[in-house]
Amino acid sequence: MRLNKYIAQSGIASRRKADELTIAGNVKINGLVMKEPGYDVVEGDVVEVSGRKIEPVKKFVYLMLNKPKGFVTTVSDEEGRPTVLDLLTDVSVRVFPIGRLDYNTSGLLLLTNDGDLAYRLTHPKHQVYKTYRARVTGILSEARAAKLRNGIDIGGFVTSKAKVEILKGTANSTIVEIQIYEGKNRQVRKMFAAVGNKVIDLERVAMGELFLGRLKEGHYRKLTQQEIDYLKNC
Ligand code: URA
Repeated sequence: MRLNKYIAQSGIASRRKADELTIAGNVKINGLVMKEPGYDVVEGDVVEVSGRKIEPVKKFVYLMLNKPKGFVTTVSDEEGRPTVLDLLTDVSVRVFPIGRLDYNTSGLLLLTNDGDLAYRLTHPKHQVYKTYRARVTGILSEARAAKLRNGIDIGGFVTSKAKVEILKGTANSTIVEIQIYEGKNRQVRKMFAAVGNKVIDLERVAMGELFLGRLKEGHYRKLTQQEIDYLKNC
């Protein structure tokens, strides 16, 4: 098996990242630095990445978590805040989140140990659309909704066309469903701020054709084979 595939299948990095690690001299085969990502790993080779022995994962795990507010989606946090991994109480393999959600955003988060799939799904070329339900301050007028739909400057970046549906509104706040096609940092919050409505609550309810459904906050489940196949074909 090619070295970059071997590393990706160990669940620590995508194939692309594995190439970078290898070229940078972080990979050893049988105690010697190997800088050639195309090296053919053979039975009995001991592969180390950054001083840690690795082995390909035999079984990939794909999970959907309903992330509550108050958790970070990084695997560790400098400020010591709880991470989404703290919620995975009976998962024995090391998984990592596909993409991210803000500390104060709740909803659908995928986790896996499949480095290749995670990389593909977060690459701008393959990004699946994401659907959010937002509660925003004040009234979201049709004119503002149209601006969000057509693309809006969120500070050096103009968003592509989005779907926006106003679900419910009072004078104080409006509940809106918004579907976006990119994943810029804090994109939904910035989009609403750009039209003058501040996000109060934000929940991701779907990624492409994968839906959060009735999964309770803080709970997680395995993806079905159909869902996994869908993601692999995105
Ligand atoms: N957009 C945001 O502003 N926050 C998220 O967590 C996800 C999308």
